Amino acid sequence: METFEAHCLILPYPVQGHINPMLQFSKRLQHQGSKVTLATTNYLFKTLQEVSGFISVETISDGYDEGANEIAEETYLAMFQKVGSKTLTKLILKLKDLGCPVDCIIYDAFLPWGLDVAKSLGLRAAVFFTQSCAVNNIYYHVYKGLLKLPLEETKVQIPGLPPLLSSDLPSFVSSYGSYPAIFQLVVNDQMKNIGAADWIFFNTFYMLEEQVNDWMANVLPVKSIGPAIPSMYLDKRLEGDNQYGLNVFKPMTDTCMAWLNERPKSSVIYVAFGSLAAVDAKQMEELAWGLRTSNHHFLWVVRESETNKLPEDFTEETSDKGLIVSWCPQLEVLAHKSIGCFITHCGWNSTLEALSLGVPMVAMPQWTDQSTNAKLVMDIWKMGIKAQQDANGIVRRDVIGQCISELMEGAKGQEISRNAKKWKDLAREAFDEGGSSDENIKDFLAKMIESGR
Ligand code: UDX
Repeated sequence: METFEAHCLILPYPVQGHINPMLQFSKRLQHQGSKVTLATTNYLFKTLQEVSGFISVETISDGYDEGANEIAEETYLAMFQKVGSKTLTKLILKLKDLGCPVDCIIYDAFLPWGLDVAKSLGLRAAVFFTQSCAVNNIYYHVYKGLLKLPLEETKVQIPGLPPLLSSDLPSFVSSYGSYPAIFQLVVNDQMKNIGAADWIFFNTFYMLEEQVNDWMANVLPVKSIGPAIPSMYLDKRLEGDNQYGLNVFKPMTDTCMAWLNERPKSSVIYVAFGSLAAVDAKQMEELAWGLRTSNHHFLWVVRESETNKLPEDFTEETSDKGLIVSWCPQLEVLAHKSIGCFITHCGWNSTLEALSLGVPMVAMPQWTDQSTNAKLVMDIWKMGIKAQQDANGIVRRDVIGQCISELMEGAKGQEISRNAKKWKDLAREAFDEGGSSDENIKDFLAKMIESGR
């Protein structure tokens, strides 16, 4: 029988943007001596293109083992809670029978019933917020009634954050009423039972969100444990750690890396909008011609479901300058010396990855938390430029061109590059042995082991 001092069960919401940070966190826990089992849904497991050998993966059911296409969000979430609670309980009991008892469930804040399962089995529970402290502080303010909706003021002041316009707020808050099921999830469900969790983790690092972290730590015992970046990109402690391991899309690794290896240092614009965003067709066209006329090299991730939005003659016409792929190993790409800047939708993972690897950003937020992330990237971390939309919500090709040249050629680009280096160093410091995130993880494991099974 395997022996270990602690066994954590990790429960991510089954989408790429939540699996990635929780998988990276799993690797760090395992590196510190904990056994880790990651539980994902039968459907997601079946559709994964790559499965890591590094972490043990088990499956539960969300009630939709053949997929939940066309199912309304609230129906899906209710079914997941019902079937997920039962199948997770069964899994934990099975692991116990196999001589591998679980000590703590670390559940995604999007799956708050993870706490009930833990408590019903007499286990410890830790909630993991995959998004920034800033965004969750905004949701917390709405939850507590400290920020009233619909918004009455033109500027919102949240402790630890700069004054925010409505357009800087997460879309579920600024477009109050448009996404009732997700609003209920992010504002109410993920906040209502956190007081009962034994630990509260944020996927960020202390210096990045110092003030907002301090404010939240006054009301809740929050701990920042990020950046969730595989250590091979920050230090060499985890030799043999592969990049992600749990990929919903198949990365075109060899094609991308061979192409990047042929490009000069800091010459390539990397463009990607994460795993979910459906970019407006007009926006795709503007982006395509903005890239083309910039005259820089570019590597553009266009997921299969998005390719029909590319202008007809674009692929061929750009073949000398650009490479379009359906998915890439983003961390390897961001860490490559040929990358000069990143045009991003500012999903929290992409933002944190770019910050931690020191890559300047052109921010083109689409929805959810991305507008807030973009605001902080530009005004607080000074790591990039937000591309301004026109009255129809489209960023035009000339604006994209200007942002690229400001970053790649202008004085502003040089200042941003200096900041990029600063954030990269601070991320490494937090992550390294004795750094703030590293200490928080060690402290968590020590306390769990101390309090016994
Ligand atoms: C979603 C939300 O949109 C985001 O705002 C929220 O914070 C998390 O959930 P997503 O849109 O997929 O995530 O964006 P992001 O958070 O950036 O996550 C995408 C992940 O996929 C990143 O870890 C990135 O490294 C990875 N990726 C992206 C690849 O590995 N290859 C690619 O080609 C593109």
